[in-house]
Amino acid sequence: MSQETERIEWLRGELNRHNHAYYVENAPEISDKDYDMLIKELELLESRHPEMDDPLSPTRRVGSDLTKGFAQVVHVRPMLSLGNTYSVGEVDEWVGRCNEMLGNAGGLSSVPIVGEMKFDGTSISLMYEKGRLVRAVTRGDGEKGDDVTENVKTIRSIPLVLAPGDWPESFEIRGEIVLPWKEFDRLNEERAFNEEPLFANPRNAAAGTLKMLNPAIVAGRGLDAYFYYLLADEFPSDNHYDNMAKARKWGFKVSDVMTLLDSEKSVNEFISKWDKERRELPVATDGLVFKVNSLKQQLNLGFTSKSPRWAIAYKFAAERALTRLDHVSFEVGRTGVVTPVANLDPVLLSGTVVKRASLHNEDIVKALDLHDHDMLYVEKGGEIIPKITGVDIDAREAGAEQVRFVTRCPDCGSELVRIPGEAAWQCPNKYGCRPQIIGRLEHFVGRHMMDIEGVGEENCVLLYDAGLVRNIADFYTLEAAGLERLDRIGPRTAQRIIEGVEASRNVPFERVLFALSIPYVGETVSRKLARAVRDIDTLMAMTNEELVAIDDIGPRIAEALAEYFSYEPNREIVARLKDAGVRLRMADVDESDRSDSLAGQTIVISGVFSRHSREEYKEMIEKNGGKNAGSISKKTSFVLAGDNMGPSKLEKARSLGVRIVNEDEFLKMI
Ligand code: IVH
Repeated sequence: MSQETERIEWLRGELNRHNHAYYVENAPEISDKDYDMLIKELELLESRHPEMDDPLSPTRRVGSDLTKGFAQVVHVRPMLSLGNTYSVGEVDEWVGRCNEMLGNAGGLSSVPIVGEMKFDGTSISLMYEKGRLVRAVTRGDGEKGDDVTENVKTIRSIPLVLAPGDWPESFEIRGEIVLPWKEFDRLNEERAFNEEPLFANPRNAAAGTLKMLNPAIVAGRGLDAYFYYLLADEFPSDNHYDNMAKARKWGFKVSDVMTLLDSEKSVNEFISKWDKERRELPVATDGLVFKVNSLKQQLNLGFTSKSPRWAIAYKFAAERALTRLDHVSFEVGRTGVVTPVANLDPVLLSGTVVKRASLHNEDIVKALDLHDHDMLYVEKGGEIIPKITGVDIDAREAGAEQVRFVTRCPDCGSELVRIPGEAAWQCPNKYGCRPQIIGRLEHFVGRHMMDIEGVGEENCVLLYDAGLVRNIADFYTLEAAGLERLDRIGPRTAQRIIEGVEASRNVPFERVLFALSIPYVGETVSRKLARAVRDIDTLMAMTNEELVAIDDIGPRIAEALAEYFSYEPNREIVARLKDAGVRLRMADVDESDRSDSLAGQTIVISGVFSRHSREEYKEMIEKNGGKNAGSISKKTSFVLAGDNMGPSKLEKARSLGVRIVNEDEFLKMI
């Protein structure tokens, strides 16, 4: 073996060790910069030694863009489910049954039990041969699942190559892939901002992410994995607890919640402890799992056709309340979709008062078979948003009328139309229906769009109802005197609004495009379109074929654009915005702006900006001699930070002592 190939092997071992220290132990031993340097060195050496290719090399964690479906794989051992209960008494009975079946006198001293967390994610089976990950398969139908190895490899806490140890030559380990609360919140915030549907809970988000076809996207989602079940022909130890402790040593994340319990009292204490403390865990759980510790006893107890007799899940009761339905209101949003909302007698649930709960769409109203003044069950389980889960039919008043979905728009009276292929009803009166128009005004002034200070939701209603702003172009004709005539607007607010409108003339084109409320043209699409077309006139003149030729622009978006621009009042609005000096073209690259004021500096951009777009800042950095970088390291000269800078980036910048510069400071610097 040459010196270089030896170095490759050494680097791989070192990097695997550091990965584990960082993602499993939470105790990094080297700086990110040193880690990056080792990765770079390994990448270089691997490119020189294709004969040393290894798909499990630490350099292969990033995920490629290769899109392919998932192959179906038959499980070596079927993946069964767990019997479950909501009652502590039934857990005690289960312990009694185990004792009885094993011919014991009773008591936990003869059947030690292990208590664990029941992780609320999506289950995964990993196969290892000679200490190397060979395959990762989802549960599927229990008999066969999807091969998701490439996606699983992007989860940094999963060891691709095990630390030396007494692992069986060939084994399977099962666990749960989860999306920690922190990542779940971040993902949903991002989705809300892009007007994408939110994930109801971390379980759906984890399962959805794991089945994505593009591992590069999976890599960025922050999935994690906990392991709880080892399967092999020969085990290192004769009991579950010690086997899992070994697995922890080999590199797997095994929860510290796992506890050996040896009396009924300790089982009950375990339940009441975690019923409270589960809320502080970084990941979602929906209960606890109890397992017979001894593998010999497990073997004797065996399985039913569906689940092992040696284990039981205790599920936490979802927090639930019963309250009366006052009425169902039908609310029209910016896009005209009508949402039914249950208005309830206020009720306390998990520490907050619930007065309203969305019923989402007609199908849900029908499935619940709601009647006027029904008593409804409201739940907050893993979901953060209260949900109506059922009706107490016995409490229904005689002769109560069934709740019917409206057929006409509750605001403008137009006949509703059903969106093809969806459960949603929509008011088609886009340009004449008050809540839709006001919704578009609110969107236009929003922080991520034109960011017009002084105009929030309330003032949009006020300005619309006073006839001062009937469409988005009217904002640019507002005068302080006119505003002050309104009861609820004083001279200071009026001045703020005027200044906010003035400042919005400098908002970059891509955000103006997003602000127009063209269906399906969200933040990302606007950015892509703006960069591809450069100005609005070009966009308005483009044919469908030309539009769909742009990356990521599909026929639905092209159609929405054509429809928007074919409507004469919209063309007028665009013309008026242009006359008002709103930016309807990308900023030109001006050679006179060049300098070397940032020469030799490496800059990371993070957060949301109000004066210029991210792209414009990147361009400015380059034009002034600086270098853009994607992640913070010791090499970073400073971070150019806007609003909502990611907490992990902030923490990293702080820990490395990297300076944080805001927009204004930056603009002064150059
Ligand atoms: S043991 C033979 N332990 O719950 C069954 N499962 O409802 C082996 N789960 O499919 C499963 N946490 O996805 C086990 N600590 C834990 C668990 C756990 C979550 C999931 C798992 C399983 C489902 C059964």
